[in-house]
Amino acid sequence: MEKNLNLSLKVWRQKNAKDKGQFETYKVNDISTDMSFLEMFDVLNERLIVEGKEPIAFDHDCREGICGMCSMFINGRPHGPKQGITTCQLHMRSFNDGDTIVVEPWRASPFPVIKDLVVDRSAFDRIISAGGFISINTGNAQDANALPIPKDDADESFAAASCIGCGACVAACKNASAMLFVSAKVSQFALLPQGQPERKQRVMEMVAQMDSEGFGSCTNTGACSAECPKEISLTHIARMNRDYISAELSSSK
Ligand code: SF4
Ligand code: FES
Repeated sequence: MEKNLNLSLKVWRQKNAKDKGQFETYKVNDISTDMSFLEMFDVLNERLIVEGKEPIAFDHDCREGICGMCSMFINGRPHGPKQGITTCQLHMRSFNDGDTIVVEPWRASPFPVIKDLVVDRSAFDRIISAGGFISINTGNAQDANALPIPKDDADESFAAASCIGCGACVAACKNASAMLFVSAKVSQFALLPQGQPERKQRVMEMVAQMDSEGFGSCTNTGACSAECPKEISLTHIARMNRDYISAELSSSK
């Protein structure tokens, strides 16, 4: 049943990349439990604009868990307290009347803060540009049964492709490792016939770009997968590591 909440928000405010930044506290009243977390921010921002104050900058686009833009730490967890969802899919019914909610941007040096809760995730775009594609001519769309693919492989490739590039895995990791993201992008091609011609080159180039962007090493804590809104599995990291070793061995022959 719909209820209304009175909340206290502690939000990270930072004018630009050079500003030191600080938390500011806002009271928000009469928030419907049916609102999404971002709609609650819309209500606050409308009030700030009416008061002549600077609204809080936050990223968003699809508002349905597809684009991966709505990155923020809520009470110390990427995308908030619920498993397997993005911030735009988080509803205010997950909070209680009188709660204090702390909201921060992703904290990882390869994702510098641009303003308030908005970070620059273009490091991910550069990793994709390094190899997250196939460049062979696949021709016209074929009949679905012209290129048989085992069902398990197709399912696992699809699961890897569901990564939305949100960066929660990096933000959750104490080393700011991007291994879950990169391995999902490597796996989605490694499992399909179309991904084979460039399989070795792809993994080498994407890992090299990941390292050059300053992401940390993976120490197998699993925080990435636990906080991933698409529940991307750690098995993709294992596959990427195997592919990387095999590519390196064959290139050094
Ligand atoms: S692996 Fe998960 S947490 Fe990381 S970018 Fe992809 S969807 Fe986001
Ligand atoms: S706004 Fe697109 S995933 Fe949240």
